[in-house]
Amino acid sequence: MIETKDLTKIYQMGETEVRALDGASFRIEKGEMIAIMGPSGSGKSTLMSIIGCLDAPTSGSYTIDGVSVENMDETKLAEVRGRKIGFVFQQFNLLARTSALENVMLPLTYAGIAGKEREARARKSLERVGLGARTHHAPNELSGGQQQRVAIARALVNEPAILLADEPTGALDSKTGVEIMDLFQTLHRETGQTVILVTHDAYVARHTNRIIKLADGKIVSDEVNANPIKAGAPRVEV
Ligand SMILES: Nc1ncnc2c1ncn2[C@@H]1O[C@H](COP(=O)(O)OP(=O)(O)O)[C@@H](O)[C@H]1O
Ligand SMILES: [Mg+2]
Repeated sequence: MIETKDLTKIYQMGETEVRALDGASFRIEKGEMIAIMGPSGSGKSTLMSIIGCLDAPTSGSYTIDGVSVENMDETKLAEVRGRKIGFVFQQFNLLARTSALENVMLPLTYAGIAGKEREARARKSLERVGLGARTHHAPNELSGGQQQRVAIARALVNEPAILLADEPTGALDSKTGVEIMDLFQTLHRETGQTVILVTHDAYVARHTNRIIKLADGKIVSDEVNANPIKAGAPRVEV
């Protein structure tokens, strides 16, 4: 469902060019769960931005469900993004002083969905991440792991075919990180969504079924992980 050929992204920094992606080609089937690994600066976030239609490549081709997106303008990219993609970030990116429920409703507000349905869907999404009892808590009243769950609920609320997470456990302690990986595994199993997550942590990566490694904007390995770690630990509400 996702196919790239020779994806290249060059950032112009005054006189110098930064080649953040340098000819990345791969294919990701619907319903895969994949980790993208690589050292800092290797192009992971750049690749996620392009896969997530937040940014266009400098050259190369990119198709989602057979539709070419590499030459779309900002408006069209936003449309594909809204329909197909959910994002989770390292720093959660929640609105402060705004309840979990309001945060999760936001993408539906943008999509023009009416108040009643918006709230019902947001509640359901929070229940799926184990936060049904925390809908009126603001981010500063929640633990880091709970905030990331709210962010995941927000990413899920549009029922995107593709869930992208850039270092989703990077701001969490290792135990909470494992709980978040357990949640991704459960969601992946239940929804059949394609889950692509970036991590520099090999242990986190081993919770997925395939590991793609980047270095200097190039894919240096792409391997099936036949025995992914099952996070499986009981979910702990803090
Ligand atoms: N907006 C930008 N402008 C200029 N250079 C950038 C920009 N974003 C990323 N880069 C550069 O591109 C390279 C890849 O960055 P990034 O994709 O963020 O890597 P990673 O997520 O693996 O740490 C780095 O050298 C980084 O400095
Ligand atoms: Mg990054």
